[in-house]
This record gives sequence, C-alpha cells and structure tokens, in this order.
Amino acid sequence: MGETDTQPGPVNTGFSAGLLSALGKAKSVVAFTGAGISAESGVPTFRGTDGIWKKFKPEELANINAFMKNPELVWEWYAHRKRIIAGIQPNAGHYALAKMEQTFLHFAVITQNIDNLHRRAGSHTVYELHGNIERNYCMKCGTTYSNEEVLNQTGAPHCTKCGGLIRPDVVWFGEMLPDDEWENAVRVAASADVFFSIGTSGVVYPAASIPLMAKQQGAFVVEINPEPTPLTDRVDEFLMGASGIILPALYKRFIDDQHS
Ligand code: APR
Repeated sequence: MGETDTQPGPVNTGFSAGLLSALGKAKSVVAFTGAGISAESGVPTFRGTDGIWKKFKPEELANINAFMKNPELVWEWYAHRKRIIAGIQPNAGHYALAKMEQTFLHFAVITQNIDNLHRRAGSHTVYELHGNIERNYCMKCGTTYSNEEVLNQTGAPHCTKCGGLIRPDVVWFGEMLPDDEWENAVRVAASADVFFSIGTSGVVYPAASIPLMAKQQGAFVVEINPEPTPLTDRVDEFLMGASGIILPALYKRFIDDQHS
C-alpha cells in the first residue's frame, strides 16, 4: 500500500512524488467510481452507517423477482430516488474528473453509479456499469421513456404503445452487466497508466474486479476513500479522505506542476 508524502519531493502537498510523476507521464487515466463520489452531493451510499441497505433489503427491492411480484412497491422506491437525484447537483469531485478529461490524452470514467452526475458535471466518456436512473424502458417492446413520462403515471407505469410494464434502466442484483459498457470498461482499465478507485467499498462483483485488472496490467493504482477497503492493501497509493476535497486538490497540484 502506498502512503502520502512517503517519497522525496515538495512537502505540504499531501501527494507523493510517485503519484505526481505517474500522472505527469500518463497518457491514459481512468477513474472508477462508486456511491462515495456522490456522497457530498447528498446521495446516500449503499453501505456504511447511513447506507440505503441499512434501511431497505436489496433482495426486497433491487431484483427482478421483487419487481415482478410487487412492481408498485419497487416503483414507489425508484420514484422516490429519481426525485431525490433530480434535485441534487454534481460536486467538486465530479467536476475535477470532468476537467481531467480535458487534460489527459485518454481519459474515461467507469462508474457503478446510476445518478448521471458525471455527465451532468461535463464528463463525456462515461461507462455506466449499473445503468442510469434517468432512463426507463418497456420490458415488452423496449420503448424508452424519460423520467418525466414515467413519473406522470400513478403506480407502476405501463407502455403507451404496447401496454407492457416499464422498468428503470438499472442493473439489479442477479442481472448481467450491459455487454458494451463492461467491454469498454475492461478495455480502458487494461490500458490505463494511472487508475483511480474512488468512493467504492469494492465488494460488489464483477465491477469490483476492474481495479485489480488495471493493477495486473501495470497501472499505478490510487484509491480515494475516507476508509480503507478490501482493495487498500493492493493499491500503489491510498489517499484517505473525501473525493470532493482530494480530487480538486490533486488536479490543481498537477496543473501547477505542469506550469512550473
Ligand atoms: N468520498 C469518497 N468516498 C466516500 C465518501 C466521500 N465523500 N463518503 C463515503 N465514501 C466511501 C465509503 O467509505 C464506502 O467505501 O464510499 C464507499 C461507498 O460504498 P458503497 O455504499 O458500498 O457503494 P458502492 O461501492 O458504489 O456499491 C457498489 O452496490 O448496491 C450496489 O448497485 C449498487 O452500484 C452499487 C454497488
């Protein structure tokens, strides 16, 4: 595990010379994000003290059997989350990643989040492993619907074309990840020079295997999290703290170094 300020270099930055040098040489940078990056925007995380899964059981809500058994209940929960997410804004961590995309030759975000905050912050190359809460589709004919269209209906919304049940375009427990998003994620992780794992507990597979793939392929792996995770012992550098503080500070330090 790497630590901050353990290598020679200017002091008081909080960032090691090893990390700054890896970033300075990097052609390809990838940020893998989880619920923690949106915590400072007010989106509750899944695990941890105030985590969503402390209040709701995943098996009762986020799976296809629960949905088919009681679509009204699952839709009530998603309507609630959709309204919360529509009312929040990206934070400094999302914006710092959007700026990095403009700075490095190749840059991608791989996210487990469904909240669309990376795109709203200005990131363009975003691979969404678990779907996007702003999208919905008919399970029978595939017609897509915006949140506005589904939230106008009471109860579980139905397709205006074929009458089929509409579901949120998110990946539930037990479902496959979307092929193209997964393949793109694996491809960019394997070619990353610097790979960030940000705000994820790293316990939900297969997404959690992505940082390990990047490490195996030789990336300099950096973790940003207020707490250690199962990944922490395997990374090159662990930056302990909130991503909304660390990412803008790191970006500023990197840009200052480029101009000095
Ligand atoms: N900055 C960075 N990290 C933070 C912050 C913050 N401000 N606040 C909390 N964290 C960290 C927590 O310490 C924790 O390690 O974010 C992590 C959030 O972990 P989880 O709640 O488990 O979220 P995530 O890893 O994204 O979950 C993966 O689980 O239920 C499923 O589909 C859901 O995509 C989700 C998946």
